Amino acid sequence: MSELKRVAKTLIGYIKRPDLYPELGRKIIKNIFNRQSAFKGKEKTNLWASKIAISQENAIENLFKMPFESFKQKFSVDFLEAEKAQNNCPIKMGGAGALELLYSACEFTQAKSVVETGVAYGWSSFASLQSLEKRNGTLYSSDMPYLGQDGDQFVGCIVPEKLRKNWKLFRHADRESLPKILKETQKIDVVHYDSDKSYEGMKWAYETLYAPLKIGGVFISDDINDNSAFQDFCESKNIQPTVVDFEGKYVGIFVK
Ligand SMILES: C[S@@+](CC[C@H](N)C(=O)[O-])C[C@H]1O[C@@H](n2cnc3c(N)ncnc32)[C@H](O)[C@@H]1O
Repeated sequence: MSELKRVAKTLIGYIKRPDLYPELGRKIIKNIFNRQSAFKGKEKTNLWASKIAISQENAIENLFKMPFESFKQKFSVDFLEAEKAQNNCPIKMGGAGALELLYSACEFTQAKSVVETGVAYGWSSFASLQSLEKRNGTLYSSDMPYLGQDGDQFVGCIVPEKLRKNWKLFRHADRESLPKILKETQKIDVVHYDSDKSYEGMKWAYETLYAPLKIGGVFISDDINDNSAFQDFCESKNIQPTVVDFEGKYVGIFVK
């Protein structure tokens, strides 16, 4: 699809969804006045992260005192089905992150309430739900519909049917979804941030999600190398995070 066609399709998608007008307004303002904000502080953070980064395996052992276990092998039957569902999905979305880190964080906290931003195919949702199901806990997810690809119906398409009873998916932008989610859960065991990668978007969501995270809860953010929002946030709160080198990108994690 040409770029012009994609932009036109996205715009039409927004026009059909009045509940997404606030996000459309924010995107227009960002694109006119604040285009560079996505990369603010990127160089500084990459230097910082590269000096302290460790592997996912080491992070799980250091933080949670648990051995690393491959998620794919542990849940091999469901994983295979999930891969099939991804291959059959007609639209392209963001791929899986550090699933073992997320699953271990849920096990470590014996999580009953997990909040995640960014679902796409649903790999991270699948990982949290595998753990939450054991305690009949709930995963609250926020994801913007894929308007340019008519993709709303496919968000979370790889999540096994049997895990969906423990899942609440909010199909709006984070700025609308998160206040709704926080009305339903005020004591969060694990936060996983993986949606809007602009500096302002990350800063806002980190502040919003940190307060209701329980003491002893785990905070994880993907793609902290895109800008310095995660580093700046941790410095402002005097938090010493662990940085995980995952497939050439950095994931930030700390226990509150
Ligand atoms: C990298 S993907 C998420 C991948 C997922 N966590 C996984 O591990 O499979 C990022 C997702 O964030 C969503 N997203 C981007 N900006 C958003 C926003 N402002 N509010 C809500 N979701 C957003 C996109 O629609 C996309 O599905």
